[in-house]
Amino acid sequence: MIFGRIKPLDAILRTAEKKSLHRTLGAMQLTLLGVGAVIGTGIFVLTSEAAQKAGPAMMWSFVIAGLVCAVAALCYSELAAMLPVSGSAYTYTYAVMGELMAWMVGWALILEYAVAASAVSVGWSGYFVGLLQSSLGIHIPDALAYGPYAGGVVNLPALIISLLVTGLLMIGTKESARVNAVLVIVKVTALAMFIAITIPMINGAHFEPFTPNGWFGEGKGAGLGVIGAAASIFFAYVGFDAVSTAAEETKNPQRNVPLGLIGSLGICTVFYLLVSAGAVGTIDSQPVVGPAGEALYPGSKALADQCASIVASGLTEPLACSKEALAHVLRTLGWPWMGNMIGLAAFLALPSVILMMMFGQTRIFFVMARDGLLPEKLADVHPKWHTPHIVTGITGVFVAIAAAFLPVGKLADVSNSGTLFAFFMVAIAVMVLRKTDPKRHRPFRTPAIAIVAPLAIIGTIGLYVNLPLEAMLVLPVWAGIGLLVYFAYGYRKSHVGRGIIDIHEDDRDTPPMPVPPVPDL
Ligand code: ALA
Repeated sequence: MIFGRIKPLDAILRTAEKKSLHRTLGAMQLTLLGVGAVIGTGIFVLTSEAAQKAGPAMMWSFVIAGLVCAVAALCYSELAAMLPVSGSAYTYTYAVMGELMAWMVGWALILEYAVAASAVSVGWSGYFVGLLQSSLGIHIPDALAYGPYAGGVVNLPALIISLLVTGLLMIGTKESARVNAVLVIVKVTALAMFIAITIPMINGAHFEPFTPNGWFGEGKGAGLGVIGAAASIFFAYVGFDAVSTAAEETKNPQRNVPLGLIGSLGICTVFYLLVSAGAVGTIDSQPVVGPAGEALYPGSKALADQCASIVASGLTEPLACSKEALAHVLRTLGWPWMGNMIGLAAFLALPSVILMMMFGQTRIFFVMARDGLLPEKLADVHPKWHTPHIVTGITGVFVAIAAAFLPVGKLADVSNSGTLFAFFMVAIAVMVLRKTDPKRHRPFRTPAIAIVAPLAIIGTIGLYVNLPLEAMLVLPVWAGIGLLVYFAYGYRKSHVGRGIIDIHEDDRDTPPMPVPPVPDL
């Protein structure tokens, strides 16, 4: 009976206890780790896609996506504080709802992390191409700068950066804690500068009309409007759950993990709201429409053509057309130098987000292989590099291919579909565990769980059904493939299924975090 294959909570907790000596991270460091994983392509690039879907009302989209993440983070916090072990949502689900559901969550997390790595690579490429052009006057031909969706052939910079990051992860290069701290500071300073310049220049006229595509794209097209933009911009918040994956390395995780999760989310939300207000309030952020006034979708050839004709006619490029949204706003406002600085910040800092996403993926793969659900060979650790080089290499090739040929927004939407599923399952798991094991000590309790968890469930479903159709369909198709893989392999090989309860005495068999969180500076 597969639903009976539950990993005992006590065995998981014994694993966690054995690790107490390695706990070094505090709340501040976790918060900065979260901010480091979260701020990336979402705010630096997808702001323009959000403008195309919602116009100035994308500010609401940021609020809505942030609220869904906040209620999900409160649910995550209860489980992460209780089970401070690797594997995050996958492990929680294994303990609460059994192996099949855990497998499905782990499988969906592959979508979250690997596809997010591709999306951030494409976002980085947009900044790289723009920075070369505007600071050094070097023009990369469109054929090599964009995929076929925008009239190019292959997005070479995105392909190269994802392979480079894969290489670094394979040979086990660790960013030093200090480098990571510096990159977090670079990103936060860049956004703070953006806010300081743009907020005083806000002109109320730019907010009119405020909701050009309505809330649900009424009459314009499915997936447009404030809610459609929220479903896409949700990507900007993806990664805060990285905090829960560091739970094993955290001092007093019962207190610090919830603080880190909620703190990093809170900081990012404040920045996002101010940045989006600064962007839409200072330049034209109305959606670009086709020659007949028809709505155009981000990432489409039709939009790329329309944007090209706007630029060719000598008009200023609207926000919705830009591939380097924040730099573009500053250049348009007459701050080209600051625009280049923002571009430089994105160029420097986005690769560490790719690294975090790719690492998150390999760690999930690793834990699943350790449980016998994937071939253990995949999790083989290289004798010299001490990294799971096989799984990292395979992941990297797929990440690079997707980054080379697909548009950033579509990749982000697909990543969102996997993440929303994981958040949805965590919200269910926290409620189920309150019923099935009410007496267990809960160092952090989700406040008002009867309201918060259902809100997380409704919020994740609400965003999911407002994703573009292709992104929505990817999840069931991916899940179907996952089921086939499970029954062809994991079902027979599972350690729990074979009665083996693994207790990992220490972290020697788990690859270390590639980015040691921020040091005490
Ligand atoms: N939230 C991360 C980003 O926006 C994945 O790049």
